[in-house]
Amino acid sequence: IDMLTKVAVVTGSNKGVGLAVVRALCKQWQGDVYLTARDVGRGQVAVESLALEGLKPLFHQLNINDLNSIKTAAAFFKEKYGGVDILINNAAIAFKAADTTPVAVQAEVTLRTNFFASRDVLTHFLPLIKPGGTNTPLHLKK
Ligand SMILES: NC(=O)c1ccc[n+]([C@@H]2O[C@H](COP(=O)([O-])OP(=O)(O)OC[C@H]3O[C@@H](n4cnc5c(N)ncnc54)[C@H](OP(=O)(O)O)[C@@H]3O)[C@@H](O)[C@H]2O)c1
Repeated sequence: IDMLTKVAVVTGSNKGVGLAVVRALCKQWQGDVYLTARDVGRGQVAVESLALEGLKPLFHQLNINDLNSIKTAAAFFKEKYGGVDILINNAAIAFKAADTTPVAVQAEVTLRTNFFASRDVLTHFLPLIKPGGTNTPLHLKK
């Protein structure tokens, strides 16, 4: 177990806000930064896009709608780093305003990911969050 290296995990980070957070952490924060995606292919493309910018995020698969995927990822970070320093619980979905799916179905599908699956991430990752506090250095890059 590597207890010395800091580690940050960003869910749903192959695009959008999550990808931007990975980029910012890679630039400003001293530690291993994990870009995660439900689709390994889309994740690798995103990792390569940041590599073209000179950044070196690491990758782990994580589909928040799949309990096994959540448990596998949590076990990986516990084994490799003894926990997680930063978790950005970002992954979510949103129907387009013009989508004609019945609103009851939209509500169910949206809650399944944005509430229940996000909560499942916390159930398995919050116990791994390493203690911090006002006296803990932020490990910002110089
Ligand atoms: N952009 C806004 O105006 C806005 C406003 C309010 C709140 N938010 C919230 O901010 C967060 C990011 O928004 P965004 O605009 O960056 O959205 P986005 O561009 O649609 O990106 C969402 C990311 O979440 C991933 N994702 C979706 N379902 C997932 C799952 N089951 N497991 C793992 N990853 C999953 C997507 O992966 P795929 O590529 O595989 O789909 C994608 O990488 C979301 O929580 C969103 O609700 C955004």
